[in-house]
Amino acid sequence: MDLEDKLLMMPGPVNVVPRILRAMSKPMINHRGDAFSELYDDCRKILADVFQTRNDIFVISGSGTAAMEAAVGCVAGPSDRIISLENGKFGERLKDLAGIYGDVVPLEYEWGHSFDLDELEKALQEGAKAVTMVHNETSAGILNPAKEVGELAKKYGALFIMDGVTSIGGDNVPVDEWGVDIAIVGSQKCIAAPPGLSMISVSERAFEAMDKDNLPYYLDLKAYRKSANKDKTQTPYTPAIPLFYGLQEALHIVAEEGMEARIKRHATAAAAVRAAMDAMGIEMFPQLNEYSRYSNTVSAMKAPEGLDGNKIKKAMLESGIIIAGGQAHLSGKIFRIGSMGNVSYGDIMRTIQQLALIFKKEGIISSIGPAIEAAADVIDNA
Ligand SMILES: Cc1ncc(COP(=O)(O)O)c(C=O)c1O
Repeated sequence: MDLEDKLLMMPGPVNVVPRILRAMSKPMINHRGDAFSELYDDCRKILADVFQTRNDIFVISGSGTAAMEAAVGCVAGPSDRIISLENGKFGERLKDLAGIYGDVVPLEYEWGHSFDLDELEKALQEGAKAVTMVHNETSAGILNPAKEVGELAKKYGALFIMDGVTSIGGDNVPVDEWGVDIAIVGSQKCIAAPPGLSMISVSERAFEAMDKDNLPYYLDLKAYRKSANKDKTQTPYTPAIPLFYGLQEALHIVAEEGMEARIKRHATAAAAVRAAMDAMGIEMFPQLNEYSRYSNTVSAMKAPEGLDGNKIKKAMLESGIIIAGGQAHLSGKIFRIGSMGNVSYGDIMRTIQQLALIFKKEGIISSIGPAIEAAADVIDNA
């Protein structure tokens, strides 16, 4: 089976439809000229709807981590207390960045467990310049309480930096309503463009807080703003033009579908996965509380007793479907199915059927019927 036959069902990169691939093969243009300016403006206009914000939005030629570093690196100075919530691999990354640039106050929870908002409030009472969190913690399949964290940050005058890398574009993320000062998304996730770009929205308050002497150079968000405000909208350094073409086409697809329909499709796809797991007696990995919920873009499940998560991943790969295992200490313990981007219900049903066949072969279930019926019911009733 060659690469073109593979179905990517991991939490990014996601399948990129031919329309986007074709858009990327256009000729190069002058990145300081009219054509690029129009391309960038078009992307920023659609992104404002996707982020639900009036804040400035920039596109960085670098993956999601570049935008994470831009956010923390521009705001945090050595003596600035930065509260970092962590319940998975990407929360850990933000915490590490906060430790490099600022004075990090880590609030760590077991991966996949929920935040304790009382603990956050206590930490905020001692003062902080910013709070960082991951909205959709991809490594654990948990959706963290952005609205509530935003309210607490605002109450204590702290900036709110939120990684929406795997929620923005696939779930409801009203950046302005939730008071997110800096929000981030990656191109290869729910927006379903190729990897390599990240998009970042920045509030006026956040710009005012970028008051330290040494801002990062390549990731200086003030430089991004200055370039975006020129007569011909542009980026400070040469952008990855083919990726911008791909992003523009991907955003047109987002706009044509409409965010409401897109969010519903993501939620239904993830609910279908969960229903199938329930029908097979497979447990979800996240430990929810009243503020957290299961992710609408990636489902994380505990590997069933006696079957290593990586073995499930390998068996799926042999049938042409790429799912994800667990990261770091979760390797082998969990497996993850992405339901993000331009994923179809057909893709979801094919994935569930193949997984059920593997579980049947391994003696975990006796029939594949219940899983398929449970998922189909969710999709039918959506
Ligand atoms: C929630 C989250 N944040 C950040 C990242 C890092 O993004 P990138 O790999 O594009 O640098 C990822 C990647 O999977 C992610 O899922």
